[in-house]
Amino acid sequence: MNSLGVLLTCPIDTYLEEELSRRCKLFRLWEPSPEKRKDFLRANAPEIRALVGNTVVGADAGMIDDLPALEIIATFSVGTDKIDLEKCREKGIRVINTPDCLTDDVADLAVGLAIGTLRRLCAADGFLRSGAWKSNGDYNLCSKFLNIIVAKGIQSSPPRWRSSEAVLKRGNEEHREREGREIYAPLMWLRESDREGEGICALPLPLFSGKQVGIVGLGRIGSAIANRLQAFGCQVSYHSRTEKPLSGYKYYSNIVDLAFSSDVLIVSCSLTDETRYIINRDVLDALGQQGVLVNVGRGANVDERELVLALTEGRVGGAGLDVFEHEPDVPKQLLGLENVVLLPHVGTSTSETCKIMADLVLANLEAFVQNKPLLTPVV
Ligand code: DGY
Repeated sequence: MNSLGVLLTCPIDTYLEEELSRRCKLFRLWEPSPEKRKDFLRANAPEIRALVGNTVVGADAGMIDDLPALEIIATFSVGTDKIDLEKCREKGIRVINTPDCLTDDVADLAVGLAIGTLRRLCAADGFLRSGAWKSNGDYNLCSKFLNIIVAKGIQSSPPRWRSSEAVLKRGNEEHREREGREIYAPLMWLRESDREGEGICALPLPLFSGKQVGIVGLGRIGSAIANRLQAFGCQVSYHSRTEKPLSGYKYYSNIVDLAFSSDVLIVSCSLTDETRYIINRDVLDALGQQGVLVNVGRGANVDERELVLALTEGRVGGAGLDVFEHEPDVPKQLLGLENVVLLPHVGTSTSETCKIMADLVLANLEAFVQNKPLLTPVV
């Protein structure tokens, strides 16, 4: 495919870039100024038949219109929400993505985020790095109390006082039963006065094993997450567009009900008109003060404004996020919270998976040039 003109819209993966530049005629257009973009397109657009992008830089209608010779778009991702698929259909432009090979990576990360958030691993890591760990008592694992958070200055403001009474007020019958379980019994914040002189806010952290986990979107990744959760003895339920009766998991047609019954809610759906802001205030309130939200889907699946409010007002227990609505921008308020784990969209970034994704992009381009069926067509 030596003569294939390929436009790489951002630095994606070194191996992919090297292979593209070895096998094709490679053009790079990374974050250009409007002027530079114009000059570049004037000089090169007629030669560009293929575009390679990712989940951040896709191909919107403007980009597609600016490339009159464009015949195929390849995205280094399973998600295609940054590509104007309708426009591609109209113009007969083919689109491929990289499904399946990244499923394990994202599912691993979802479980990692759930545990990391529930057990506040980043706060504990920060405690150790800050030099505050002077004796084992500082980090009282034996009593299941991590009394480090306010005392050691890791959290800037104390979390809201919560009592088991307030927790119980949330519930209907099902919920009250859940609260009665041993893992919930000790869940309450201690007021500063309870730990005289120490100014300590103690938080007994919940166990992950055996938790009720709700999955939003039981596609390839959601199913892989559910499989992993079996090993932790979790009770898995899910919400998706349609019920999957063979899955063996409890289906909720109403996402608020799913959130209400879940200790951890994991978002693993794609971004569509139906799933934009599917995690809204009602869902967050149903998830509740002890609930943890994990998002490995798309940032805009979650109403970030509402999430920030729910976290800062103590209406939701924590969040583990690999994706954000306006990447790489992250809501500033999240940065000051210790009950969140924030990752820069690294769901698929293991070396093994990146290599397979790159090879899949290359194989699709080879097939396209040779007029063979595409391996992973979207359009
Ligand atoms: C994808 O490939 O679409 C995902 O965003 C990876 O995290």
